[in-house]
Amino acid sequence: MNILAVESSCDETAVAIVRDGRQVLTDCIASQVELHRIYGGVVPEIASRMHIEAIYALAEQALAEAGLTRNEIDAVAVTYAPGLIGAVLVGVNFAKAAALALNKPLIPVHHIRGHIAANYLAYPELEPPFLCLVVSGGHTMIVDVRDYTEMRILGTTLDDAAGECFDKVGRVLGMPYPGGAALDAAAQRGDESKYTLPRSKPGANPYDMSFSGLKTAALNLIHHAEQVGEELDINSLCAAFTAAVSDTLVPRVVQALRETGQKRLAVAGGVAANSRIRNDILKAAGEMGVEVYLPPLKLCGDNGAMIGAQAYYEYQAGNVADMSLNAYATKSILGEAL
Ligand code: KG4
Ligand code: ZN
Repeated sequence: MNILAVESSCDETAVAIVRDGRQVLTDCIASQVELHRIYGGVVPEIASRMHIEAIYALAEQALAEAGLTRNEIDAVAVTYAPGLIGAVLVGVNFAKAAALALNKPLIPVHHIRGHIAANYLAYPELEPPFLCLVVSGGHTMIVDVRDYTEMRILGTTLDDAAGECFDKVGRVLGMPYPGGAALDAAAQRGDESKYTLPRSKPGANPYDMSFSGLKTAALNLIHHAEQVGEELDINSLCAAFTAAVSDTLVPRVVQALRETGQKRLAVAGGVAANSRIRNDILKAAGEMGVEVYLPPLKLCGDNGAMIGAQAYYEYQAGNVADMSLNAYATKSILGEAL
């Protein structure tokens, strides 16, 4: 089954063609990052306009690269939630038009389910059940993936997403948007013990997380240094910040692995590219005899292939939409009825 998959929830327009949920025939991405960089973050209105400009040509490019005709597409999939509403709408409307014109099923895919499914592309042998740590620019959660379309959220951030904090701290340190990768590189040259940053334990659920206190503490430290004219060791601050994020994520994942008894851990989302977090996860899981699935960096960020992968399983579960499909800025990964 060849699925044409569309992703436009943030600042990447992406169209991929994925066969049977596992084989990527092509994965085309038009990134807008350079454009948003001058504003220090994503400007939603610009994102929507750029999606409109890019999406049609990208779909044509995907077909050409895969060497397929339109008739060889068996279904059209699209990220319908969550994301910047104007941006998601562009993809949803394009996918609806394509499905209508081709007379093929329309498959709505939750963006975070897509991030999880990136693991199916990187690891052909991986099948649920497994535990998944989702760490992206907009979401941070620990998900018990019982089956391809059956999930349980064990814990989630109660405020900011981890990636959001990387980007905010990076921005204040003058790093180009999105700051995560630059902050990661700087952290590798720093000494984390030079600065003390908090690790918060919010609420009653031991799996829930909070990053806004950590973000504020890091920003205060930077502003205070500026005010008193103290020279900041940026690399060490980045190292301390990254360590605090990792110390928030990894022990919760370890506890979740213990409690669920899962022997496999997948990681998903852009922050999964972080070298420190990767290493800490590999170490902790290794000590527990847990197998870790870390997709390559290309599949960690937003892409269309991950949407095409998840779409295959959504289709098998009967999760198809009609022309009344809408876009949603927020929606639970648990996938209540559309
Ligand atoms: O999953 P993603 O591409 O988009 C969302 O769906 O949010 O994640 C983007 C996020 C950004 O916040 C970016 O700064 C972060 O992933 N990121 C990193 C690294 N590479 C990307 N954060 C920390 N370390 C990295 N190496
Ligand atoms: Zn994403």
